[in-house]
Order: sequence, then C-alpha cells, then structure tokens
Amino acid sequence: MREFIARLHLVTLRSFPKPSQWLTPAELHMFERIRAQRRRQDWLAGRWAAKELIRSYFDEEAGLQLTPSQIEIKNDENGAPYLSLTDTGMEERSCISIAHSAGCGLAGLSLHGPIGVDLQQIRAVRPDLAERVLTQHERTQLAHDFAGQESEGFFVFWALKEAARKAQRTRPAAAFHDIAVKLIEPRHAEISLRTQRLKAQWGRWGEFIWACAQLLT
Ligand SMILES: CC(C)(COP(=O)(O)OP(=O)(O)OC[C@H]1O[C@@H](n2cnc3c(N)ncnc32)[C@H](O)[C@@H]1OP(=O)(O)O)[C@@H](O)C(=O)NCCC(=O)NCCS
Repeated sequence: MREFIARLHLVTLRSFPKPSQWLTPAELHMFERIRAQRRRQDWLAGRWAAKELIRSYFDEEAGLQLTPSQIEIKNDENGAPYLSLTDTGMEERSCISIAHSAGCGLAGLSLHGPIGVDLQQIRAVRPDLAERVLTQHERTQLAHDFAGQESEGFFVFWALKEAARKAQRTRPAAAFHDIAVKLIEPRHAEISLRTQRLKAQWGRWGEFIWACAQLLT
C-alpha cells in the first residue's frame, strides 16, 4: 500500500456559518465581489474545506487550536491558492490546492512539494469529448478499465488532468492532450506533462471523483 501523497478534506455542506464569522477581512472582501450565486457557494465550500484541513493539521501535529479566521487563503497572480499564516513557519513549506464541484469543496495540503486536487461530479458526457481530451492510450485504458462505467472513467482521467494542471500552478494551463495519464494500479496514476512527472491518486466519493497529483522533483 502506498502512502497518501497529501492530506485531503472534502466538504459537502450546502450552508455555512455567516461568512463574517470565519473569513478574514481580506477574504470577506474577495467573497463580496463574487456575484454569481453558484460561484459564491463553491468559493465558500473550497475555503471552508481548506481551513478545516489546516486547522486539523495544526491540532493533530502541534496541538495548536486555530480559529478559521486566523487562517488566510489568498490567490497568486495565476489564481493558485496559498496560505498566509504568520509565525508558524509553515507557509514556506506548504502547498495547498482547492477544487469545487456542484457546491462541494475539496482541499489538499502537502508539505512535500506542489500538489493539485480536483473534484468532478459524475455526469453524462458527450460522446465526442473523450476523443477531444484523451489520448489514444487513455481511451484504450478507459475502455478496458471502465467497461460499462465510461462516464465515471472519463471523469477519473479528467480529474487527474485538472489536478496535474493545478500542481503546475501556472497560467495558461497545459492543454489536456499534453497531459498523459497512466492508471497504474487501483486508484493510483502516473502523469507526464512535457518534461515533468507527477504521481497521483484518485477515488470515488458518492457522486464525485476526486484526484490529487504531486509534482516529482
Ligand atoms: C485553473 C483551473 C485548473 C481551475 O479549475 P476549474 O475547473 O475552473 O475549477 P475548480 O473548482 O476545479 O478549481 C478552482 C480552484 O483552482 C485554484 N486555481 C485557480 N487557478 C489555479 C492555478 N493556476 N494553479 C493552481 N490552482 C489554481 C483556485 O484555488 C480555484 O478556487 P478559488 O478561486 O475558489 O480559490 C482551470 O480553470 C483550467 O484548467 N483552466 C485552463 C484554461 C486556463 O488556463 N485558463 C486561464 C485563463 S488565462
């Protein structure tokens, strides 16, 4: 059994305490600028997942009880999230990643290099989509490993590719065809992205597929 490459936290709540009770003033300002209701729900779910993850990490590893508003999550110029937490020495070493889907949020935390996470609600896919975003080798694996469950399988590849994109933390993101996913054993994958290599894990949770990828140095 391989070790998990990152800590993950999935949030399926549809309502949260009042934002002013757990967001920092800067986060509240960001939240208030989001207009679309769906995006507001997703944004809160992602932030809540990230803060719960960081809180539980500090509680378990250092016996330190932080409140959600002591943890600030910002986005860099490429949109990638990062942690702002003074006096813990953790900021420089940590990498967080956030995903949302259908109002649910997923966060990942790694102290061992850049990671990316993704969350996809399993749904019907247009037949031509697999052809457009998966390589020939991936389509062969999809047909072999997910016979009769092609939608689920499609989102496994999709989520792994999105997680790899996020681990890169760049913009514009790599094209899906440049990201090669190889499923290597149940729930693990190897990913190549031009000259970079990543290791990855995925899983199913209810109607969702989650994925987490880590850049190998
Ligand atoms: C960036 C991208 C990976 C986000 O995925 P998505 O499907 O839109 O949304 P998800 O819920 O999966 O993830 C959103 C989270 O990804 C994170 N994110 C955004 N940009 C990121 C980046 N460059 N690197 C890492 N993480 C990023 C953010 O935390 C964001 O949540 P937040 O805004 O609430 O903090 C996706 O937009 C993408 O692949 N874009 C490709 C096209 C592109 O390059 N667009 C940029 C236009 S110049």
